[in-house]
Amino acid sequence: MANIVIVGTQWGDEGKGKVVDLLAEFADLVVRFQGGNNAGHTMVVEGKQFISHLIPSGILQNKICLLGNGMVVDPAVLIEEIDYLKSNGIEVGPDNLKISERAHIIMPYHKEIDHARERLKGDKKIGTTGRGIGPSYEDKATRRGIRFVELLDPEVFREKLNSILEEKNFYLEEYLSSNPLDLEDIINQYNEYAKRLSPHVTNISVVINNAIKSGRQVLFEGAQGTHLDIDHGTYPYVTSSNTIAGNACGGAGIGPKEITGVIGIVKAYTTRVGEGPFPAELSDKTGNTIQKKGAEFGATTGRKRRCGWLDTVILRNAVRLNGLTGIAITKLDVLGGLESLKICTGYEYKGKILQDFPAGLNILSKCKPIYETVPGWSENISDIRAIEDLPQNARNYLNRIEELIETPIHLISLGPARDETIMVTNPFE
Ligand code: GDP
Ligand code: IMO
Ligand code: MG
Repeated sequence: MANIVIVGTQWGDEGKGKVVDLLAEFADLVVRFQGGNNAGHTMVVEGKQFISHLIPSGILQNKICLLGNGMVVDPAVLIEEIDYLKSNGIEVGPDNLKISERAHIIMPYHKEIDHARERLKGDKKIGTTGRGIGPSYEDKATRRGIRFVELLDPEVFREKLNSILEEKNFYLEEYLSSNPLDLEDIINQYNEYAKRLSPHVTNISVVINNAIKSGRQVLFEGAQGTHLDIDHGTYPYVTSSNTIAGNACGGAGIGPKEITGVIGIVKAYTTRVGEGPFPAELSDKTGNTIQKKGAEFGATTGRKRRCGWLDTVILRNAVRLNGLTGIAITKLDVLGGLESLKICTGYEYKGKILQDFPAGLNILSKCKPIYETVPGWSENISDIRAIEDLPQNARNYLNRIEELIETPIHLISLGPARDETIMVTNPFE
């Protein structure tokens, strides 16, 4: 029996959606445990592309999908996503989509505050997705959040919202120069959401633990990436939740002993969307080539992703922070055609070599990446299905990564489609 956590090792968009969709075949339940619709996970099945922001990527494999208590959920986006999947012939109902009664709700003022704060910050902005994620987690931490359990009780919802909205409107109008929001409008809208979603709301900790007890296998789908983690990422240029594997337990309501493996998704190069430090960033022709060939545009906001070489300083950080038992390398195909590739193996700071990722942004911004150069390959590798058939230089690149981060490769992705993959070791077997 295996229960596997999948996390991003870099700054998000590593290809978690594709790998979760693929591995979901071997799981019974697929669980999101943090974040919200700041995530954009892409799956390509039989030539058709699906992007999910909230519903776990296991939905296309017809698995039981759960939204954990650690998430912040925009009910309007969730309903839209359910309708979109249904209109594409995918079955979605209370039996296969369950929402934690403890998950927090994203409210209209969260989105308004997110946008207005970014506007006010000008060039010091974080570059958030504008989905209200930070303000919602902020209310959770200060115990003013509204959860599904409160949304489903119209009287409790009204009372809570009434007491919160006065303060939110004061802040919106007086500090952020935004428009105030109307209590009755929100109540009417959210009561409709409650009616629609109530059959899905349950205690998902009980559902998952019962499933594990009866020998079923669970896949935990992380969102964002290790370096966007609120504690361990490039703070404050991070998201507002713990994205690392340990939070699969807190964000889903299971004990750590249930986790049997942790797979880190590693894009074969590095990307970042939004602001914040990125030592191995390429601001030259090669960066542009990778951006174009990799179609590196955000799946949520459509923004161009910044691109750079593979950085093993951040990967070693991810191995330690998540306790990775293996990695999946994605988008290896994108690097084809480059004469040589660089791998960042350390950072130079004030004449010293740093092996570990520094916490201070002022240090990080002065770090110069130390590169090792390896030869590239020119062949198109997307149709290859066995590791032995990869060009020798591609194999050397993979071997060097394994060596530098001391973690085995379980899976190699060579294209966006489900079948464009080489499975080296199946973590569920
Ligand atoms: P996630 O947020 O980690 O799920 O990743 P995204 O879906 O935001 O971004 C990854 C993008 O790369 C998507 O457009 C995927 O369809 C695509 N993708 C995933 N794996 C591969 C791969 O191996 N090769 C190529 N060329 N594209 C891939
Ligand atoms: P997936 O799951 C890439 C980034 C935003 C911004 C920062 C804070 O698709 O990998 P937020 O809206 O969360 O307050 O924004 O985090 N960010 C992501 N970047 N992939 C994501 O998710 C992201 N989710 C948030 O761009 O820099
Ligand atoms: Mg994404």
